[in-house]
Amino acid sequence: MCEQVIPNPPNIIAIDGPAASGKSTIGNLIANRLDYICLDTGIMYRAVACKALREGIDVFDAEKISALSERIKIDIRHASEEDGRQFDVLIDGADHTWHIRSPEVNQVVSEVSVYPRVRGAMTELQREIAKNGRIVMIGRDIGTVVLPDADLKIYLEASVEVRAQRRYVEELGRGKKVCLVDIEESLRHRDEIDSGRSIAPLRAADDAVIVNSDDMTVYEVVEHVMRIIAQR
Ligand code: DC
Repeated sequence: MCEQVIPNPPNIIAIDGPAASGKSTIGNLIANRLDYICLDTGIMYRAVACKALREGIDVFDAEKISALSERIKIDIRHASEEDGRQFDVLIDGADHTWHIRSPEVNQVVSEVSVYPRVRGAMTELQREIAKNGRIVMIGRDIGTVVLPDADLKIYLEASVEVRAQRRYVEELGRGKKVCLVDIEESLRHRDEIDSGRSIAPLRAADDAVIVNSDDMTVYEVVEHVMRIIAQR
């Protein structure tokens, strides 16, 4: 396929949306097309949750979790193994690429993401990474809080049923034994906390373009977003 080259695409692109709405898949494909870097900021909150579990820190201990978020070193690098990973995620030098996606981390990551100091530490790192531009940044609050001046903001949504079904198929494909009802329940739980928190809640920025992917394939969403990019 001959892909169209877009002259002067938006320099900073924010993609926000609820858990499992396809942000990471879409964001990475868009970044590849534009030859931009892509940062999925969920990885950073997952890293904090993962490290807390590993160190036996109570996720409801705001002080300890906040201190952890201020000292943690998170490296996101090119994938060193062909086991389905998009990146290597190193936490304080150790590979935790798959641990950060575990059900245990899914269970507590939203709680950890509520603390103001955790958000402050992650936001600072994210702004630093975005400084050079040519970036697609993915999260919950990128268009509203982290990069309110982003050149393009996409809010990617899909119903919880569709998101659960997609995640279910994805996990089955990785050979995992999973239950659709549990996945849907976990997504509802995270949606509730992510949208209900007082600091940087999940919501579309006023100037975001809302894309509902319920009836679209990944390819269709990418093409749709590329058309939005071309029109900017
Ligand atoms: O996108 P994800 O499922 O990997 O994100 C994991 C959690 O991290 C999500 O439940 C909320 C939090 N998060 C956040 O609060 N702000 C962001 N910018 C990205 C993720």
